[in-house]
Amino acid sequence: MKRIVITAFTLFLASSSFAQDKKMDAFISDLMSKMTLEEKIGQLNLSNNRMYVTAANTGNHDGGEDMLKAGKMGAYYGFMNHDKIKELQQTAVSTGHKIPLIFGMDVIHGAETVYPIPLAMSTSWNMNLIEESARMAAKEATAIGVNWVYSPMVDICRDARWGRIAEGAGEDPFLGGEIAKAYVHGYQGRDNKFGTDEVMVCVKHYALYGGAEAGRDYNTVNLSRQEALNGFMVPYREAAFAGAGSYMSSFNEFEGIPASINHYLLTELLRDQWKFKGFVVSDATAVTEVTQHGIGDLQEVSQRALRAGLDMDMNSNGFVTTLMKSYKEGKVSEADINLACRRILEAKYKLGLFQDPFRYIRDGAVEKEIFTPEQIAFARKAAQQSQVLLKNNNNILPLKKNAKIALVGPLANDKKNMAGCWAMSSHSSQCVSILEGVKAALKGGSVTYAEGSWLMNDSIIEKQLKSGFMGFMTGRVDPKPLHTKSQQEMIAEAVKIAQDADVIVACVGEINDMSGEGASRSNINIPDAQEDMLKALKATGKPLVVVLTTGRPLTLKWEDENADAILNTWQLGQEAGHAIADVLFGDVNPSGKLTTSFPRSVGQLPLYYNHKNTGRPHPDYAPYRKFTSCYIDELNGPLYPFGFGLSYTNYEYGKPTVSSSTLTKDGQITVSVDVKNTGSRDGEEVVQLYIQDIFATSTRPVQELRGFQRVAIKAGETKTVKFTLTQNDLKYYDHDLNYVCEPGEFKIMVGPNSRDVESISIQAL
Ligand code: BGC
Repeated sequence: MKRIVITAFTLFLASSSFAQDKKMDAFISDLMSKMTLEEKIGQLNLSNNRMYVTAANTGNHDGGEDMLKAGKMGAYYGFMNHDKIKELQQTAVSTGHKIPLIFGMDVIHGAETVYPIPLAMSTSWNMNLIEESARMAAKEATAIGVNWVYSPMVDICRDARWGRIAEGAGEDPFLGGEIAKAYVHGYQGRDNKFGTDEVMVCVKHYALYGGAEAGRDYNTVNLSRQEALNGFMVPYREAAFAGAGSYMSSFNEFEGIPASINHYLLTELLRDQWKFKGFVVSDATAVTEVTQHGIGDLQEVSQRALRAGLDMDMNSNGFVTTLMKSYKEGKVSEADINLACRRILEAKYKLGLFQDPFRYIRDGAVEKEIFTPEQIAFARKAAQQSQVLLKNNNNILPLKKNAKIALVGPLANDKKNMAGCWAMSSHSSQCVSILEGVKAALKGGSVTYAEGSWLMNDSIIEKQLKSGFMGFMTGRVDPKPLHTKSQQEMIAEAVKIAQDADVIVACVGEINDMSGEGASRSNINIPDAQEDMLKALKATGKPLVVVLTTGRPLTLKWEDENADAILNTWQLGQEAGHAIADVLFGDVNPSGKLTTSFPRSVGQLPLYYNHKNTGRPHPDYAPYRKFTSCYIDELNGPLYPFGFGLSYTNYEYGKPTVSSSTLTKDGQITVSVDVKNTGSRDGEEVVQLYIQDIFATSTRPVQELRGFQRVAIKAGETKTVKFTLTQNDLKYYDHDLNYVCEPGEFKIMVGPNSRDVESISIQAL
């Protein structure tokens, strides 16, 4: 009976959405019948606020209205200004066919109120929190008039040298897929109906941008199609299944074809297989850049992009200046142009812009919706859950609120660099520094502060990095010397206050511009000057707590051997200082777990837990042995494994059990594990389930995450955590790219991280 009801309801929904689609089709057909081919091509053009440039190369970054008035603009991005958006929309709807504009923006970790960077958010493993972050960001974005966000960034990355690892959800495709869905649901609403405080997502960077060789930004991606589908594509796919409205094609090539002209990616996979119905925009100037890839001139690459399935050209002016010529020369058809134009008009229709072009541009919303107490409280909550405790010898943390603390390091009294790489609209004044956070939390204790060190010994690079984006673009670097004191003097000051304190809290790591776009590093250590300071502090013999600010995993060998505690706080957004103090003093019990492996040394990269076995495997933590797959001078295993993170309490895991040791084609089994909180504090634990396909027709990873649960467990309490598995969870893309579960033995592993697991076997029939 229940089944019949569901079926009838589903039919009703399908038929009503079918009727909606028919209405939309008729409306758009009618509109397009009145448009010239030039006007249709105009819809495929996207430009931006000229003050908002995120690409170094040439292109159309002119947000001027001439092209709009000439019917040559379908959308704009980069305007975080309600009045300007309103003015542009007014121009659009009083010109030609009165087609409204879409307004895009890089809303990546918050719109105005800044939340933790996405990599940090991913370490919460909290899908509700991530969904809420997107919903909260959408509220602020729509208050300004933005209705299209360039998020989620779902690129899987196995190489921490790549600065854009900060923008994604780490190295695992399954977790990445869950996170992608959470973002789509949060931004667009679970019904994808686009209320006035919901926005259309743009999933990026499609595809495989995070696979850049050597971690160098924009570099070649060289992956087999099978490895791409199994290891990298899942988040893009899951976003499509969740109803994502648009995608952004990436800068890199795949199989020798740049993504923006890659028919396999843009049409065969995305549309034919995943049934994506929205539109694809290029990344900024990505179409022009295809000429640099060596494919042809702007006309050639533009027509190839359109025919491959790219609908909108961001900043290249390629479509708007060459497609008409290509049409006349028979290189593109009217149908090609119509298809792209229709997809963009459909997006406008779905956003409700034809009914009301100003539905997102509500007067007074900015004053009411931005920086509300609710937003600030959310930023703090998100930051509390996005920290990972990596080391805590002798429970040195949490600190006592009446302690005498020496707070040192270049990131201790820094507001701006708490924000992270995509805090476009953040102002330093809104960010809470660690010093401010600690001061506010102390009760009876004291804090002394010293900057303690330069950011790095290379002061020329330090200056460039600190001059920020506009400094890079304009070459205008502040002529004032960066430091008035020598590195030695600064270290001496830090040592002096440390000698007088109960505990040293050293705030070190990366500033905003050391990760994100165009910020690859060949060494991913804590920069030399800061490490020298840490060594001098260690020599004082005082307990040393390292508070790490970073946009990427770092190599922390010295810190791991020498610090008493390491709290990785990433870049936590504007409430960083408060949220860090919440954890340092134990008001919040840390619960974050890594979503990227932390390498021991840069030579291990790329490093990822879900690697293959090889024919000569070598245990992760065993010393060098000739003729096995290992290094002479380094262990194979990471310093901190995927899934790892400590808490102020301890958890004891029982052995996993299964409801049946066989899994039939349509059946399911339950995997159960008891987790006991053996400490004296309540906590939240992320319980993880991994699988291994023991024998398959293709080689399979030694471990693959297939389930996780974040559970609250009170001190002394035991919880039985249950996971349901079906054959769907055991599937992979085989050598012929069929998505299959191959019968045979599977190992099921459960544990607090990818390294410390207990296993049990099952048979898939
Ligand atoms: C970045 C994208 C971003 C776009 C627009 C590009 O340089 O790769 O992530 O969305 O600029 O700002």
